Amino acid sequence: MRSRIAVLVSGRGSNLQALLDHLDRLDDARTSDVVVVISNRSEAAALEIARRRDIPAEHLAFPDDGTALMALLGRHRVDLVVLAGYLKRVPAEVIREYRGRVLNVHPALLPSFGGEGMYGSRVHEAVVAAGERETGVTIHLVDDEYDRGSIVAQWRIPVGAGESAQSLAGRVLELEHFIYPRTIEMVAALTLRDTRTSA
Ligand code: GRF
Repeated sequence: MRSRIAVLVSGRGSNLQALLDHLDRLDDARTSDVVVVISNRSEAAALEIARRRDIPAEHLAFPDDGTALMALLGRHRVDLVVLAGYLKRVPAEVIREYRGRVLNVHPALLPSFGGEGMYGSRVHEAVVAAGERETGVTIHLVDDEYDRGSIVAQWRIPVGAGESAQSLAGRVLELEHFIYPRTIEMVAALTLRDTRTSA
């Protein structure tokens, strides 16, 4: 038995791609499958990545409508929800129903450089402007506040002297692609164990 993952995306989907590649490499040793990819933007490149792999790609026209998202997750019998560059708030009823089973990746060391509006190049520009010596990747559970849920994993990298935000963005993204799929697999395995224990 494997965990059934929904990936929620808004953009290019490089983290989705990294997850799918990681699961391919694990082959029969994997503990999860991506069973649906959902986007608030019908033109998101990430949906194309899903379609090319014959993974159902769903457009969520009203992302604030919790009932619609709950129905979609229910229809695909989802165990674990993974946000990968998803720029909308996850509705409260989904957070409630999937408590402890919604993950997000953030390209900085939370609780610093997070919160509403802190995404994309803005994060790295703020890190450089603040003169930080370290940045990194944070993977956290999602609750009803942006970037505030419990931290599951965090990795640090040094910021080079005079390093640009663009250079940081590339290095942090590369780290995300390594760390996020492995953390997702770990959480998926724990989710399965919990489901079995409580069954
Ligand atoms: C990543 O940097 C992630 O940390 C943030 O959004 C970006 C998504 O990139 N939450 P991609 O769509 O996975 O390429």
